[in-house]
Amino acid sequence: MIYPRIAWAVLLLAGLVAACNQPAKTETATTAAAPTPTTVGQADWWKETVVYQLYPRSFQDSNGDGVGDLRGIISRLDYLQSLGVGTVWLNPIYGSPNDDNGYDISDYRAIMKDFGTMADFDALLKGLHQRGIKLVMDLVVNHSSDEHAWFKSARSSRTSPYRDYYYWWPADKGTPPARYSTFDVKKNAWQYDAATKSYYLHYFSKKQPDLNWNNPKLRQEVYSLMRFWADKGIDGFRMDAFQFVAKDPTFPPMPGLNEHNYTNAYNHGPHLHDYLQEMNREVLSKYHLMTVAEGAGRNPAEAMLFVDPARKELNMTYHFEAVGVGSGADTYQLTALKRVFTRWDSAFAHKGWQSIYLGSHDQPRIVSKFGDDRPAFRAASAKLLNTFILTMRGTPYCYNGDELGMTNSKFDNIADYRDVAARNGYQLVRSQGGSIPQYIKSLQRFSRDNSRTPFQWDATANAGFTTGTPWLKVNPNYPTVNEAAEAKDSASVLHHFRRAIAVRKQHKALVYGQYQLLDAANPHIYAYTRTLGAAKALVVLNFSSAPQSWPLPPGLQPGSQPLLNNYPTVPTGPALALQPWQAVVLSLR
Ligand code: GLC
Repeated sequence: MIYPRIAWAVLLLAGLVAACNQPAKTETATTAAAPTPTTVGQADWWKETVVYQLYPRSFQDSNGDGVGDLRGIISRLDYLQSLGVGTVWLNPIYGSPNDDNGYDISDYRAIMKDFGTMADFDALLKGLHQRGIKLVMDLVVNHSSDEHAWFKSARSSRTSPYRDYYYWWPADKGTPPARYSTFDVKKNAWQYDAATKSYYLHYFSKKQPDLNWNNPKLRQEVYSLMRFWADKGIDGFRMDAFQFVAKDPTFPPMPGLNEHNYTNAYNHGPHLHDYLQEMNREVLSKYHLMTVAEGAGRNPAEAMLFVDPARKELNMTYHFEAVGVGSGADTYQLTALKRVFTRWDSAFAHKGWQSIYLGSHDQPRIVSKFGDDRPAFRAASAKLLNTFILTMRGTPYCYNGDELGMTNSKFDNIADYRDVAARNGYQLVRSQGGSIPQYIKSLQRFSRDNSRTPFQWDATANAGFTTGTPWLKVNPNYPTVNEAAEAKDSASVLHHFRRAIAVRKQHKALVYGQYQLLDAANPHIYAYTRTLGAAKALVVLNFSSAPQSWPLPPGLQPGSQPLLNNYPTVPTGPALALQPWQAVVLSLR
């Protein structure tokens, strides 16, 4: 089962509030996965690519307004190419009033004013393609902005032609059946709208009304806007909140719905797969697009329904179970992390494909959550985490800044937070008389703003991100953690990231090879082999801030030189002496 509290994103409003009191989980030993086949279906570019998730608002500002923009990204194209990534996924760049940083779209065919113009977009796409990098756009169609023309018309009259693009509950029918909203200050997903004496549905903030996918006209609008971008030559879509899209329009009661169970309750509504198959027929089959849905069903078997090639729906999904490990507890259990990744790998061993990630714009920084962000261990643990992401089976998604080992910003004042989830959560805690210091502590660990602070380019003012005032404060550690400094240091997290990508590209076993977990119960070491025909690699990761000794399992004979290593010292057998957070990839004879 997906961990219900954090299945959506650990930091969302109620999760944050509740996380303060959650006890640490006790983990039991896991058993190694059964051997799996050596390849998963046919080779494809979207299986071999490395995706770089780029948060445009925070990447590079070109005009001094404090907000990152497309011209800023264009000025950094050579940097993107130097990383070796094959695909860039851009968070939403469409017209938006920015209640939820672009996830509230008011015009699906326009570029957000803060970010630039359509000419800038065309230049960006061209510049990426010239460098051999593909572009994946965010498709946010579970909801629009309340400032979208459809919604403006829909809310103006019960007879508007756009009324059925959204979900309404007329007040004359009484109060609607309870629905939980993750961003709403009162957690209520129904917002009363006086103009037509009706409530409208919003699973997210009240400025993000949910679109009615039961309406074929709405679906055609979505396919049409997808064609608009596909015709421009983009290479794929990341489909936001897609597991929530299908809803029963009669809104049957959901007793006991709350922050712990709403993701499962909303998941996989009626006709979800009919919609995806229709979308595939109408749009996806006509273009060479990569598709990845956020959210994946309530378990691997349901996730498979999205990506089984025979069903003709999508290429990949991503689930929240791994990033949810240990949320709310002081530390996470490595055995739990291993168990989740191993379980999902084996579910996709024969067909389908999955995404591998630890961080995103919805998660805290990976080095602060899964590594050790204290100065002595930050670099080594960031390198280890990148090694992990880049040596697992599935398409790796690397979030911008993680290639530098950027850390949580840990702001201690609510005024420094910008996220709608953080701000509304604060109001909720205040209104309930809860502990503000405890809430801030929880924001410091889980807030989405931790990973949204400006990219740290250099040690100049505002980390070289902007000449103006940044929309979100720069992490104070930028004078030491920044791209310019790391570019000069061949032992940096940045250089290690580039090497790891190069190694993945050279060794197809790291892309397609069978994954076999070793020593499942070891609480500090995550070790596995990847095997493709005669090619075999052993990955050994010391997930701890202390040295560890790891006896090589009998029969494993590593070559003398590691393919990848984040320390100058090479651990040799029969028991590998590993430094804190040491990560080695060894070829096996
Ligand atoms: C997805 C996005 C998140 C956004 C939410 C509502 O989870 O990743 O950032 O707030 O959907 O669109």
